[in-house]
Amino acid sequence: MNTSQRQVAWGILGPGTIAHNFAVGLAETPVAKLLAVGGRTPDRLAAFGERHGVERLYGSYEELVADPDLDVIYIATPHSFHLAHGLLAIEAGKGLMVEKPAGLGAGDVEALVEAARKADVFFMEAYKCRCHPQTERLAELLGEGAIGRLEHIEARNGGMLERDPASRLFDPALGGGGILDIGCYPVTTVRLIAGVAKGLPYAEPVTLEASGEIGPTGVDEIAFAELDFGDGLTASIACALRREIEDTLVLTGSKGTIRLPVPWRPGRNAGPSDARIVIEKDDGVREEWLRDPRQLFAFEAEVATQAILEGLKTPRWPAMTAEESILNARVIDRWRDGMGLPVLSSVRSI
Ligand SMILES: NC(=O)c1ccc[n+]([C@@H]2O[C@H](COP(=O)([O-])OP(=O)(O)OC[C@H]3O[C@@H](n4cnc5c(N)ncnc54)[C@H](OP(=O)(O)O)[C@@H]3O)[C@@H](O)[C@H]2O)c1
Repeated sequence: MNTSQRQVAWGILGPGTIAHNFAVGLAETPVAKLLAVGGRTPDRLAAFGERHGVERLYGSYEELVADPDLDVIYIATPHSFHLAHGLLAIEAGKGLMVEKPAGLGAGDVEALVEAARKADVFFMEAYKCRCHPQTERLAELLGEGAIGRLEHIEARNGGMLERDPASRLFDPALGGGGILDIGCYPVTTVRLIAGVAKGLPYAEPVTLEASGEIGPTGVDEIAFAELDFGDGLTASIACALRREIEDTLVLTGSKGTIRLPVPWRPGRNAGPSDARIVIEKDDGVREEWLRDPRQLFAFEAEVATQAILEGLKTPRWPAMTAEESILNARVIDRWRDGMGLPVLSSVRSI
């Protein structure tokens, strides 16, 4: 790493939709530099390079990870390739930030985390909402007892999409379905909030009861789960590819509620990423605004880059730590299993 400039050199593996957002976030992070991109599809690679002013373009993922000037690779391919592409980066001695979900199942995530640990490289799963300041503020409010004892959490993420069998979202072979794509956000968030309520960084549900609908392409199109964290704390989570369910995060306590009207994507495509927290109690409603001009992905880019500059091997809470990525994946597996879906694993090389 070139520490004299105090900039971490990033490579992007897979210049698809979300990689564009991440490149914008990186550009808003002074301690980071997007040095290189690797892609298999020449036109897409060239367009990405031009749009983001990337110096080095590689026509294969193998060439990308071999660039000796790169510190860390952001893996932005479909879920079913995260294990293989993550291992590719690790075997080349690079740190990695892998898009969520880090694997198709907990077994994939365990393998990636273990490989990163053995190679002594950085590992982070890219849960951008965990890096936005609203998560930390939520934890503070709970810790201060702003709504008394936490009793229930409701978290929903989804909407109505065209059923497109050509899209990775509806293709079981590419890890399609709502749970893996967007249900993972409610899972990670309720685990964190339940943990904070118990004075821990995170907590695991004692029971999980799933329901929902599997569509004709074989993926979950609508999924619900009721979670019991013990000690009188429950959560209802939902995700949908094929139903308008309002994006929601509501915490109900013995003395009031906290609501985040935009829980998952404040400033997703462009800044500002302002977030509103609404606290409602018997004596009235109070609003807090967290304002930031940056785009949402800048937060995770900064968290990861700072952690790498400090020599950490995984970011600090409330970002997802490597250990927590495994635990989160286990709950996602339980949700899929409860829906009658197979618990998946990926091939290790492609
Ligand atoms: N954090 C977020 O907010 C967020 C939002 C959306 C998606 N994601 C995650 O990001 C990942 C990518 O999603 P996306 O929507 O950006 O996907 P996408 O637009 O389809 O892009 C995927 C990229 O992966 C590469 N790729 C390699 N092998 C592939 C294969 N066999 N089939 C299809 N693509 C292949 C392609 O790159 P080449 O150019 O090399 O062909 C393509 O550019 C997913 O895991 C998803 O969960 C995260």
